[in-house]
Amino acid sequence: MIKPRQLHAGVAKWEKRTCQLLGQPSAPVLCGPRKYPYQVAQNATRTYHVSRSIREPVYKPQQLTTKGLAQFTTNSHANVHAAPSEPVIHPVFEANTGTWQYVVADPSTNEAVIIDPVLDYDASTCTASTHTADNLLALIHSHSYTVDRILETHAHADHLTAAAYLQLKLGAAQAHRNHRPPLICIGRRIGIVQTLFGQRYGVPADERAESAFDTLLDDDEQFVVGRALRVTALHLPGHTPDHLGYMFGGAHVFCGDSLFHPDIGSARCDFPGGSVRDLYASARRLLALPAAVRIWPGHDYPPPPPHSREPVSWATVVDHRRENRHLRDGISEEEFVTMRGERDARLGAPRLLHQALQMNIRAGRLPRPTPGFGDRLLHVPMRLGPGVGEW
Ligand SMILES: [Fe+2]
Repeated sequence: MIKPRQLHAGVAKWEKRTCQLLGQPSAPVLCGPRKYPYQVAQNATRTYHVSRSIREPVYKPQQLTTKGLAQFTTNSHANVHAAPSEPVIHPVFEANTGTWQYVVADPSTNEAVIIDPVLDYDASTCTASTHTADNLLALIHSHSYTVDRILETHAHADHLTAAAYLQLKLGAAQAHRNHRPPLICIGRRIGIVQTLFGQRYGVPADERAESAFDTLLDDDEQFVVGRALRVTALHLPGHTPDHLGYMFGGAHVFCGDSLFHPDIGSARCDFPGGSVRDLYASARRLLALPAAVRIWPGHDYPPPPPHSREPVSWATVVDHRRENRHLRDGISEEEFVTMRGERDARLGAPRLLHQALQMNIRAGRLPRPTPGFGDRLLHVPMRLGPGVGEW
């Protein structure tokens, strides 16, 4: 088996190849596997993926663009045959952290990428598990995909990444087909985040080195998935300084934690290195794209009953420009800065903040066991309550 650490020299030339950006926007083809714990459904306008019991709403484009978030309908069955020029997109929702994971494939070659995969973690028992990641593996296996890359939009603070686990498993599976393990990719500025949080949490320098990732992508760097699925890395700072979006063929942008769905608005900006003004600029960059471009966020947080809805995986640029509650046309930068700042001041810390950051700056690789102790340790800071002094 090819070891992940042997990847760099062998792919350097391949990493540098360039391609042309921005084809014409076109409708996506979305599908899920027909077997395993997923279902696939389809209506007249689009096909959508259903993650276990979580069903993605189906929007007719005309409803979405004129009425914002419309009623969803459920359907059944379908097998999708993608036109060669269109990516096949599998959105897979992880409900515990409200995370959208994506598998995006070139149907002409069955080469694929994974975007922002989740490693399950139970904070009450300090236990990591791989049910969610194994479901992604089953999806990939059922479609006979070869995974070329695992794309991280940023070092997440709310969930742990399954990138390293998936690289190991897929590396073993793909070695039989003489294909290297998938490259774990993230933005060039990850070093800023690794240094910041690595020092804060006492992560050994060699475990938080940039080499934890296989490829550091520059702004606007391009690469190809399969034969002709062109991808461009878009620097979208604000939520974090290293944050990237990934544009596929000019028609789809996987925007991570920048824009959320129009009824939620935008991602928080109060983590170290975050910037409300940067997020506003990143959002304007996204919303300057052609109206039909589909924006796929990193999370969705449906409200609780009685106003609950199903998680939604995409909205178009024009949907956001008309309906986004934080960033629609007409909301000024100063209005956004005031609103976002007030809102962030009321937000609590993510439940898995400390575990997530320590794992994610390692690209999801396990901490080394502590010498003389045996366990793999993560640090959780202790704070004193209001009015409680040192003793
Ligand atoms: Fe995030």
